[in-house]
Amino acid sequence: MASRILLTGGAGYIGSHTHVALVEAGHEVVILDSFANARRSVPDRLAQITGRPVQLVEGDVRDEALLTRVLVEQGIEAVVHFAALKAVGESMVRPLDYFDVNVGGLTALLRAMETAGCRRLVFSSSATVYGLPEEIPTPESAPLRAMNPYGQTKIIGEQMLDWLGRSNPDWAIGVLRYFNPAGAHGSGLIGEDPHDTPGNLMPFVAKVATGELERIAVFGADYDTPDGTGVRDYIHVEDLARGHVLSLQSLLDTGQGHLVNLGTGRGYSVLEVIAAYKRASNRHLPYTITERRAGDVPISVARADKAAGLLGFRTEKGLEEMCASSWAWVSTTGAQD
Ligand code: NAD
Ligand code: WQD
Repeated sequence: MASRILLTGGAGYIGSHTHVALVEAGHEVVILDSFANARRSVPDRLAQITGRPVQLVEGDVRDEALLTRVLVEQGIEAVVHFAALKAVGESMVRPLDYFDVNVGGLTALLRAMETAGCRRLVFSSSATVYGLPEEIPTPESAPLRAMNPYGQTKIIGEQMLDWLGRSNPDWAIGVLRYFNPAGAHGSGLIGEDPHDTPGNLMPFVAKVATGELERIAVFGADYDTPDGTGVRDYIHVEDLARGHVLSLQSLLDTGQGHLVNLGTGRGYSVLEVIAAYKRASNRHLPYTITERRAGDVPISVARADKAAGLLGFRTEKGLEEMCASSWAWVSTTGAQD
């Protein structure tokens, strides 16, 4: 059934793809975004993809009065909360900004939702909450440990939501722990578009493929992994977006919350990613093996069966499609943005 959904951070990378998936599933969507880390062209592109006008509120997720007004006036039934700061390295330098936006923003949103009587929420969490996981693939029951202020904000967010749910059973909250989102929309019109030099592997490789950056630094080749480089569970952003639709539908249908990993259950090494991107782009991708990056874990792979069982979520797209769609995006539209 169609519902009215608020997407905070809906102009960002994962939020924009989720917007498309929700509209395609028949929902009415309102985006709230400050454009702190999004391009102004995104709403028009979303309208182009979906063939529907985009309802946009420009504002800050910490603005409780604004959020309350939007929730009430728009008759919002559920919220998907993406708006956050997400750069791990930056969080080490500016930790208070991260607590302010990620924890303060969540608090303001939850207060507004209480006031408006809207108690259905999907929350963007991250595999980073597992810190250095002992068990691979990592189940949701694994212990949580922050490796940086960003990860700490996600753990605090999850804990706030857990206590809130216990305080009032009317709440139904879906906590989604994403592994490594990658790739772009099949239309080539939206994708990951970092303003600065990317900290993440896939967008960095993409910029080497376009010639914007010269050479990839592979952070360590002496890990205890098959080729010595770090292994991650990359998940196509369109699969991830579909996971949000399923999560929301489950909250709305059952009134029960859930906490699940969203990953594929399969890991790829840095060198495998570079090789796959080379096949997709047909570009030379020079790289140098450098020192390990501080704070990196050797392997991060999801145990994916809980989301499959609870939500019927299964990924459909593999690494080749992540690289091909990323390349289509950066080599055409993305580069002109
Ligand atoms: P993104 O930066 O592309 O999207 C975040 C959006 O929130 C942006 O559009 C930005 O303009 C907006 N925003 C930031 N601060 C805001 C504020 N104060 N008020 C209103 N809007 C604000 O990031 P993303 O990759 O799409 O991540 C979305 C969510 O998923 C975040 O919560 C992030 O922590 C989480 N997450 C991301 C990854 C990843 O690797 N991309 C992995 C795990 C979890
Ligand atoms: C992947 C692999 C690097 C860049 C981060 C956050 C996590 C989540 C997703 C938000 C690792 C290697 C990377 C480069 C490299 N974000 N690498 N050269 O570190 O798994 O996760 O993004 O929640 O919280 O920590 O992703 O893409 O940075 O790294 O060799 O230039 O690529 O060492 O093995 P990571 P990543």
